Amino acid sequence: MHDPAVLRSMHVARFHAEPAIFVAPGRVNLIGEHTDYAEGFVMPVAINFATLAGISPRSDGKIVIYSENFGEERAFDAEATPVASKHWTDYPMGVVSILTGEGHKFPGFSLTLWGDVPLGSGLSSSAALEVVTALAVLSLIGASYPGPVLARLCQRVENEFVGANCGIMDQFISANGKENHALLLDCRDLSFRLAPIPANVALVIANTMVKHSIAGGDYPTRRRESEAACAVIASHRPNVPFLRDATLEDLEKWGHEMAPKSLMRARHVISENLRTVAASEALLRGDMKELGRLMAEAHHSYSVDFEGSCVEADAMVALAQDLPGLIGARLTGGGFGGCTINLVEQSQAAAFAEALGARYAAQTGIVPEIHICHASDGAHQLR
Ligand code: GLA
Repeated sequence: MHDPAVLRSMHVARFHAEPAIFVAPGRVNLIGEHTDYAEGFVMPVAINFATLAGISPRSDGKIVIYSENFGEERAFDAEATPVASKHWTDYPMGVVSILTGEGHKFPGFSLTLWGDVPLGSGLSSSAALEVVTALAVLSLIGASYPGPVLARLCQRVENEFVGANCGIMDQFISANGKENHALLLDCRDLSFRLAPIPANVALVIANTMVKHSIAGGDYPTRRRESEAACAVIASHRPNVPFLRDATLEDLEKWGHEMAPKSLMRARHVISENLRTVAASEALLRGDMKELGRLMAEAHHSYSVDFEGSCVEADAMVALAQDLPGLIGARLTGGGFGGCTINLVEQSQAAAFAEALGARYAAQTGIVPEIHICHASDGAHQLR
């Protein structure tokens, strides 16, 4: 994570005011992909890549936002209604918009943003940006929300302001993650359970360098296809409003009424929910072998039934299989590129990362970024 003292210096140099400083992490999902918007289960981990925000009030009625990552400053009238403009400022201004809709009134402020979550890599850089901005602007008016509520508000920023039809996983883990733990979330009622990650297990995150975007076409298409399958089941069993409530037997009975792609998407979502709960139980009892097996099954389902992977991500997973220390590997996040998560024995992690990088570069011609990460705390104030 970047140094908050450096962020402070940047903010003071630019805005001549002492900032309050907040942090919100990115995430990696161990298992449970495209299940969140079906009110199912996910098991993400907050990671030690994060976005920092420094904030101080202004008296000129302006909102001035500077991103060190984009090297760009933008100013807005604090009284005006924010409008989305397909620019990175949509995330912080979307937060202002949604919270204003909740009845809050914000004064002008200066906001400095600086993060090291790789952008567009499936590690939730946008969720980190939303959550950190929400904490920062709420602090200005002495307000706060419980983590799960904050997550829901930040999800609404994506859904209602940015125009990305995502579920709640990313915002939830960024707001509620816990050091050294994975979090099993029930996306229906937002109840969750923490499972410790053994100290001898490393999270090796391998970036395929293939960019993904959840605002792009594939994510909403997959979502629509799986929801169409659910509608077929619901026409027979009205108490199945979401695939969370469906079973594999439902697919056997009524799968023939579905478009073939919809049937495949639903098979992934329904089986993924089962795997995710089983994986959290395996992690809780320390059965890493079973967890690894479930991750392999999950990747296969994500790739073959959901068609959510890509050649490069499949290669990254395949190339990890016989490397010493591997417990489990799969593509993580929204899909169609981004990163794989590899659970690896800590003592082998450095050698694993090096070997995987070399193999991937040799096979694809792309030099990947590989990071050895650990599970970190959710968003909070630093100073
Ligand atoms: C993206 C979305 C999440 C979730 C995942 C897929 O990260 O933001 O809500 O749907 O994809 O599991």
